[in-house]
Parts: sequence; C-alpha cells; structure tokens
Amino acid sequence: MSITKICCIGAGYVGGPTMAVIAQKCPHIQVTVVDLNQERIAAWNDADVNNIPIYEPGLSEVVEEARGRNLFFSTDVEKAIDEAQLIFISVNTPTKTYGKGKGMAADLKYIELCARQIAKIAKDNKIVVEKSTLPVRTAEAIKSILDYTGNGVQFQILSNPEFLAEGTAVNDLLFPDRILIGGDASIEGQKAIQALVDVYSNWVSPEKILTTNLWSSELSKLTANAFLAQRISSINAMSELCEQTGADVNEVAKAIGMDSRIGPKFLKASVGFGGSCFQKDILNLVYIAKSYGLYEVADYWEQVIIMNDHQKRRFSNKIVQTLYNTVADKKIAFLGWAFKKDTNDTRESAAIYVADDLINEEARLSVYDPKVPFKKVLADLDYLESRSTTQNQKHIAPATSAYEACENAHAVAILTEWDEFRTYDWQRIYDSMQKPAFVFDGRNILDADQMKAIGFVYNRIGA
Ligand code: NAD
Ligand code: UDX
Repeated sequence: MSITKICCIGAGYVGGPTMAVIAQKCPHIQVTVVDLNQERIAAWNDADVNNIPIYEPGLSEVVEEARGRNLFFSTDVEKAIDEAQLIFISVNTPTKTYGKGKGMAADLKYIELCARQIAKIAKDNKIVVEKSTLPVRTAEAIKSILDYTGNGVQFQILSNPEFLAEGTAVNDLLFPDRILIGGDASIEGQKAIQALVDVYSNWVSPEKILTTNLWSSELSKLTANAFLAQRISSINAMSELCEQTGADVNEVAKAIGMDSRIGPKFLKASVGFGGSCFQKDILNLVYIAKSYGLYEVADYWEQVIIMNDHQKRRFSNKIVQTLYNTVADKKIAFLGWAFKKDTNDTRESAAIYVADDLINEEARLSVYDPKVPFKKVLADLDYLESRSTTQNQKHIAPATSAYEACENAHAVAILTEWDEFRTYDWQRIYDSMQKPAFVFDGRNILDADQMKAIGFVYNRIGA
C-alpha cells in the first residue's frame, strides 16, 4: 500500500517536529497534524513562523517550507482521521496522578480516547502507529478497542517509538541512528510495516530501518531511556564521591569514556536530569516490572530515580551550606530554567526542584532563561503546590538579562547549559554582586581557573 495521506494526533514536542520533517522529506504525502488544544494549533498556523509553539533549532525553516504545501495543522480531528490511510498517535502519556499506579504507571487515557475516536470514524482500513512512548503490550489494548468498537474495518497496529532528543530534534529526525518499527508477523502486519518503511525510506537508508515484533519495539523505547538515564545517575553518583576524595568527575568521565566499550556520550555530571521522558519512562518500567512480580528488576531501575532526586537535593543543600547555612532574604540568581539548552521545555527541569528547596529556605530568586517566559517559571512552581501562588511570587522575580539577575546577588546558580552563559562578561557580573561572590555551576560549563582569578568562590559538580 502506498501512503498518500497521513494524520498525526498530537501536535506536541514529538508530533509537531516529526510530522514537519516527514512532510518536508515526502512532498507527495499530505500530512495533517491535529490536536484538541486550539491555542497550540493556532500557534502552529501563526503567519509568523517564529511564533510556532515549540522552540527547536532549525524547526521554523522546515515548517516554513512544508506548511500549506503538504503540511497542515488543524483541530478537525475527525476529518483528518477519516481521510488518512496511516494515523500516528503522538499524544502525551504522563505519569498517572490518581488511582491504581498513581505516581508510577503511564496514564493511557489519552491513548484510549484516540483509539476510540479512530474506531468511531474509520470507514476504510487504517494503519495505526504508536508514536507515543507506551508500556509493553499496549498495542494489544489498542487493537482490542479498535476491533470491538470499530465499523468492521481492518486495523493494523504498528509501534514506531521516537528517539529524538529536544534541542536537537530536527537533526535527530533528519539523521536518525535508527528507525524502529514493530508489527504483527501476519502478512497484513508485514504489509503495514512495509508501508511505513517506505515513508521513512524517502530519507533514511535501509540499514538504519529496523523491524521487530510489536513487544520488542515497545519495550526497546523504555529500555533506551532507562539506559541513557542510568548513565547520568551513574556519573552523578561518582560526582559525589569525587567531591569527597579530590578526584574530578570531568577527568574521570573523560578517562572512562575513552574506553570504546563505554564511550564518551551521556557522561556529563549535572544538577540532575530533567525532561518529560526519563523519569516518567523509568517509573513506568518499574511499575511494569512490579506488575509481573519482578521486584529486583524494579528496585534496580528505581535506583536511577532515587539517585537523580538525591543529586538535585544535594545541589540546593550545597548552596545553603556554603552561604553560611542560611539563604534567608539573600538574592540568588538562577541562570537557566529549561531542562537542557536549546529548548523552551521545562518539564521536570532540575531548576524547579532546586528553586523550591531554596524558597523553603526563604531565599529570593531572580531568574533568567533565554527561552522560558517568566509565567512558565511561576506555573512550574505553582504546580508543585508547595505554597500559595502569592508566596511563590514573593520569592521569585523575573530578570530580562543575566546581568540584571546577578546584580546585588549573593550567589549565581547555573541550572541550564545555555551556550550564551559561557560568553558573558563575568568580571562585570562579579563587580555587580555582593561579596564574597559565589557561583554554583550545576552544569560544569565555566572555566574554574578563570572564575577564581576574577575572585569568585566557584563551586561545580564533582570537584
Ligand atoms: P506533548 O504534551 O508536547 O504533546 C501531546 C499533545 O497531544 C498535546 O498537545 C495534547 O493536547 C494532545 N492530545 C492529547 N490527547 C489528545 C486527543 N485525544 N486528541 C487530540 N490531541 C490530543 O507531548 P510530547 O512531548 O510530544 O510527547 C508525546 C509522546 O511522545 C509521549 O508519549 C512521550 O513520552 C513521547 N516522547 C517524547 C519525547 C520528547 O522529547 N518530548 C521524545 C520521545 C518520545
Ligand atoms: C531523551 C532521550 O535522549 C531521547 O532519545 C528520547 O527520545 C526522549 O528523552 P531529552 O529528554 O529530550 O531526550 O533530552 P536528553 O538530551 O536525553 O537530556 C535529558 C536530561 O539529561 C537533560 O536534563 C540533560 O541536561 C541531562 N543530561 C544529559 C545530563 O545531565 N548529562 C548528560 O550527559 C546528558
């Protein structure tokens, strides 16, 4: 089957960029991205392409090229489902906040809604592709909903997890390490796999397109995220030992990373990993393992999260201890709020938790992030429900530049590794601060010798 019309349900951080790249690379395919969120769709359709809702380097150029040609954003979910031969489900699968599995399991209510809507509308055979990250064996549940509530049409379910990282999404989509497609072993299943392989073959070479059974594909996504996060927690565990022993975690990471079996990537010690995926997906993995009675497996992976929570808490404790055991009424400049550089996404950012700890200690925070609006900062803090909005507002203020954030501050905390932070006039920042002037570099991005030569009391992770 040759695909000419694709629909994607969910115009978020995955659906938006992924469909934009498919549309750019497959001008013969009409790609419609739909979402219930009208504001988000309006932003994707904004006449000024710089106002699209997601900041990703290179994304606005891709959208500009394809939008209106063969890439469309719409709130008309039913029409797009009806017309498409292939439907990606790319909706959010957050951690459950209620009921059984609260705080651990993935909430699949949005996935189920999509399946029911597809079943209701479809009048001809469809390929339904799981793009969202899902617990292993979710395809079974989707198939059951489609087959039992549908209009007697044939559905094939594929799993095609997305491995892009935010901040590098366009590059990751254009040059993926691999494309993973899981499907049914039947002839119909294999035909569906081939139809999706043909879409990716427009720009991805065949040896990078991997096909597996459904369950391997679903589980590979959770496994990949667990392994990546585990490397960060492993190096962060070592960072604490380095601080006690005189070893330097940057040197240790370099030394072990040169072992070709270990490799150099994902060994940057930090204030802790954030982002919408790692914690959610590991908690989900832990829940799945427990549900099969595999308690040792569950404990093993849960430790990755425990270590990450410890690393965030350790950073805020270090600030308080170093500032003579009190930060009450002291101004602390926060440079960075996003969970990593080159994105405006703040979900699970370490900055939120460090800020919450410091506000508990009555600090006054001044926040500067190049891409995160202050209303998002406040919303992130309010979401924790640690105190009232009014209380949060008393303790945190926006700054229009890093220089403004640092003026009269007792300390600077670097929470995100934005490149611009390296290029600042740090002498000017030092001159404007209270003395002694402290820097807590949660991303190890500044030159320790230079900072000390200026006069800063410079602290970083793992040294
Ligand atoms: P997101 O919250 O940015 O976007 C999801 C969108 O789906 C929202 O705009 C929401 O309004 C929409 N939606 C929810 N239910 C809907 C429905 N019934 N009909 C229409 N629209 C609906 O989420 P995201 O970051 O794009 O993540 C989506 C999935 O991809 C998740 O499962 C996530 O784990 C996975 N994933 C995310 C990343 C990442 O870097 N963000 C990477 C790989 C995989
Ligand atoms: C991750 C996976 O990398 C991606 O494959 C998957 O599809 C979605 O989840 P993402 O969360 O967007 O992507 O970004 P990533 O680059 O993995 O960073 C996650 C967090 O780990 C960030 O807070 C980052 O700062 C932190 N990190 C990353 C470190 O602290 N040290 C490192 O060495 C690498």
